[in-house]
Amino acid sequence: MRKPAILITGANGEMGHGLIKGLARNKNIDVLALDLEPLSKSMKAYVLDTINGDILDKKLLEILNTEYEFREIYHLAALLSTRAEFSPLTAHDVNVNGTINLLNLAIKQAQSQGRKVKFFFPSSIAVYGINSFKEKMKIGSISETEYLSPITMYGCNKLYCEQLGTYFSNNYQQLSANFKPGLLDFRSIRFPGLISAITTPAGGTSDFIPEMLHNAVRGNSYNSFVNKCTKIPFMTMPDGIEAILKLMDTPREHLTQSVYHISAFAPTTGEFKSKIESYFPNIKIGYKINEKRQSIVNSWPSDVDDSKAKNDWNWKPNYKFQNAMEDYLIPGLKEFYKN
Ligand code: SER
Repeated sequence: MRKPAILITGANGEMGHGLIKGLARNKNIDVLALDLEPLSKSMKAYVLDTINGDILDKKLLEILNTEYEFREIYHLAALLSTRAEFSPLTAHDVNVNGTINLLNLAIKQAQSQGRKVKFFFPSSIAVYGINSFKEKMKIGSISETEYLSPITMYGCNKLYCEQLGTYFSNNYQQLSANFKPGLLDFRSIRFPGLISAITTPAGGTSDFIPEMLHNAVRGNSYNSFVNKCTKIPFMTMPDGIEAILKLMDTPREHLTQSVYHISAFAPTTGEFKSKIESYFPNIKIGYKINEKRQSIVNSWPSDVDDSKAKNDWNWKPNYKFQNAMEDYLIPGLKEFYKN
């Protein structure tokens, strides 16, 4: 008998850790954690099994297909935007070929179980590409259908995979009538920059705020790699995890689309810096601009209009800028680094 489980790829990443705990809290079904790296010891109690392996290893995925019955798949594994610019072909392999391998696994599972398999795919504000900083500041919040011209490999990968997921959900094999539309239930959130009090991201272009915060709490000076006028949306990691759980639990008929963007707060880098300095007046925060990374964040929107998510699945962040700092990030980080 195949073991019923929820599959999480990229389980050892910062979103993976939060999601594993969230699923353990909310769902009555075991989690199988897949990652290239061994799962952190502190996380092992929350999962059924953990597998060290590569999402590009088709043999491994075939073994998982025979051993488990996946009701839901959360495919988090990816190379983030800055890292992807250093090795675009590897990024394409992991971000695109890895995703199609997982979509294929989901389809096989839906076919053999004869029931719907839900698939969650984290997308990103990196799918947007606005021509200039001037235009970005002029247009303000954008909707999901505007400015879909990414300037990074990561953004291209995410946008294409959103479309692949929607294709497999709605149109796959309709001509041969082998696969009923709707058997794969694909859902995706385009996340803003995520900030966690217990982990730091690796290889992202929105890392300047998490890095500024984590360094300040540890008593280190920090130079932001983007300038003080830079503005993109952010969200706390707990709100990001809640959003995934909420979207995945919403009845399909309430959803008017498969891909939603969401936001919680969008101060400039300078405003973040002043806020952090109000807690740590002795810490030196400066700027050392990386032009390439600056141009990437300049192409991302200053904020997004998330009214679709609000209407369709009641999206609402618990943390805005003030209480994110006061009630979650500053106390959480102080606790995390207290030894
Ligand atoms: N946080 C991601 C990155 O910076 C964007 O979604 O790559």
